[in-house]
Amino acid sequence: MTIKVAILGFGTVGEGVWETLHTHHEYIQKKLSTPIEITSILVKDSNKKRNLPDSVQVTTDIEEVFQQPVDVVLEAIVGKQPAYQYVTRAIEHGAHVITANKEMFAHYGPHLLELAKEHNVWIGYEATTAGGTPVIRTIDQMLQVNQIKSIQGIVNGTSNYILTQMTKHQNSFEDALLAAQQKGYAEADPSNDVDGYDAFYKAMILSQLAYQDQPNWDEVYLEGIRTISSQDIDKATIQGQKWKHVATIELRHGAPRASIQPMQLNEDHPLYNIDGVENALSIQTDLLGSITLSGPGAGKLPTASAMIEDLLYVFQKERQQEAQYV
Ligand code: NAP
Ligand code: HSE
Repeated sequence: MTIKVAILGFGTVGEGVWETLHTHHEYIQKKLSTPIEITSILVKDSNKKRNLPDSVQVTTDIEEVFQQPVDVVLEAIVGKQPAYQYVTRAIEHGAHVITANKEMFAHYGPHLLELAKEHNVWIGYEATTAGGTPVIRTIDQMLQVNQIKSIQGIVNGTSNYILTQMTKHQNSFEDALLAAQQKGYAEADPSNDVDGYDAFYKAMILSQLAYQDQPNWDEVYLEGIRTISSQDIDKATIQGQKWKHVATIELRHGAPRASIQPMQLNEDHPLYNIDGVENALSIQTDLLGSITLSGPGAGKLPTASAMIEDLLYVFQKERQQEAQYV
């Protein structure tokens, strides 16, 4: 048997997935005891030049993707539609879904998880939040016995990269944003990063995971980093502090609450030393107390790593289940 993979989106992340499936081909095959075949790649613009062999089917038509058997869809396109429609189609086709698309998943995650259960398939969404840092699986594991009181996190790599460049190298906001775009950290529309929407979507995904619920979106305080000037940065430095863009999710009177905003942090704050594209979550739980997870928050290979971890996870789990019935 061969595992048939379709990749939706071939930008920074989709290309990273393609590359990693090739560079780590032998390792992955050994882990799964099964070869992997990429059956098709869905894109928006069929005229763009791509670094792909002619043998790969590149299409703009989702129906072409499902004209053949597909075991898993790796979704890395932008925005909630048509991504939601495509992953719904994948689940109904009987394929597992692995997504990096936090905007789509913040909106439709709960419904998709239900739909996946009905169709006996699995959805992996590790790559939606904190890039390559395995926060989703770790929190899921902690929730086996812990109750989460609050999460404070730096969850947008682009904003953190910009604030760090402004603090450490006195770069302008515009230069730092351009560098973040060139490095593949920023969203297709970078206002999603610098105005806080990207962090907002990730906070909603974390809230759903930690509390099986999201705050009322209209009640979430949301502010990006555009208001932070180089004078603000200098003042904070003189005071021994740093500006960080912080998402807070907590349970108040039994309901989840969240805010996303720039904050001046003291040196003893667990997020103070999280610089550059790094992301981190400082999580308070009833049994563990405080735990901080940190690592690469964006970029081609870290994000591909998260998606391929999900891929290995689902097929290893499937193999174990099959073995139980033999
Ligand atoms: P990107 O470089 O802009 O690539 C987006 C890809 O999606 C492109 O290949 C584009 O096709 C395709 N696409 C867009 N709209 C489409 C549509 N309607 N139908 C079919 N294909 C469509 O974006 P990216 O940075 O790879 O990010 C992809 C997803 O991963 C986003 O949801 C993002 O939030 C998420 N993510 C990104 C990172 C990161 O570090 N970049 C990390 C974690 C998660 P064309 O090539 O034809 O334009
Ligand atoms: N644009 C996002 C960021 C990509 O900078 O964090 C990772 O989700």
